[in-house]
Amino acid sequence: MSLVNRPRRLRLNPAIRRLIRETTLQPADFIYPLFVRHGERLRIPIASMPSQAQLTIDLLAEEARQIQRLGIPAVILFGIPAQKDAVGSDNFHADGIIPTAIRAIKATAPELLVISDMCFCEYTEHGHCGIINSPGHEHYNPRLPAGYLLNDATLDLLGRASVAHARAGADVIAPSGMLDGMVGAIRSALDADGFTHTAIMSYAAKAASVFYGPFRDAAESPPGFGDRAQYQLDPANRREAQKEIALDIEQGADILLIKPALPNLDIIRDTRASCHLPLAAYQVSGEYAMLHAAAEKGWLGLRGAALESLISIKRAGADMIISYFAKDVANWLENG
Ligand code: PBG
Repeated sequence: MSLVNRPRRLRLNPAIRRLIRETTLQPADFIYPLFVRHGERLRIPIASMPSQAQLTIDLLAEEARQIQRLGIPAVILFGIPAQKDAVGSDNFHADGIIPTAIRAIKATAPELLVISDMCFCEYTEHGHCGIINSPGHEHYNPRLPAGYLLNDATLDLLGRASVAHARAGADVIAPSGMLDGMVGAIRSALDADGFTHTAIMSYAAKAASVFYGPFRDAAESPPGFGDRAQYQLDPANRREAQKEIALDIEQGADILLIKPALPNLDIIRDTRASCHLPLAAYQVSGEYAMLHAAAEKGWLGLRGAALESLISIKRAGADMIISYFAKDVANWLENG
């Protein structure tokens, strides 16, 4: 039988499959998330995220060296402060957990790019991403409902904390609170303090997602009341995601971030088509936990499932991926 088109010709052996492969993963595609806490020589495992742990600063420095050796170019930091309060002040103190961690990483792994997640949910006692409207508080606005996350007062705090992180040596600030105007406010605050070259990676389209559940255990940041639906994007809204993207570009975002990754491949694809900025996707804690849970039950092979998810995220249009699998991938690639 004569068949002109036989796509299987190009699948015959590993060499030809490699030759025609359109998307590949390499260590340089990844950003590795780290959770930092106070104390000495503590590695506190995170139950819902196998192999992930909260680290104290001394161990963090060793970890940073290892990440650099694996060829992963960047880390993103999340802090667990010693004390939480109404405005999350640890986040803008020069000796807060994140500025201290940044200085330690820069001292041991100077080539590693340090991205600091810029949000207040880990630092406030109520677990929301900024200042909450409450009677008696200096920013109280009786025209807004009690419990509402105050947008503009929080922008001031984001600016202050970004400057504190930049002064400690952060290369990139990554605002993740989905507040209106956050990118512009941070850009002005950084520029006013001379940090014109500190980049902003904006969590531009961040859905109000259940897939952040394990992270909130890891970062000790679940909201004390309500949820984040008044500020994070409704997962049902594809057009609104593009509106958020456009606003962040206007305000000066250098890199755009979409999250969670696998549930938002269409948004990643839309964004890749609609703009020319570098695009990041965050394979979040719940995506990581799901794959591990299925693998633990023997229902999926971990390595295959992780690599297939990550290649799909890259194929959809992400230039870089924040992933808890980053070190595993670098090891898998190194050892075949
Ligand atoms: C906010 C922040 C969150 C994550 C990253 N930055 C949590 C949230 O919005 O509740 C989630 C990351 C993950 O699930 O891996 N600081």
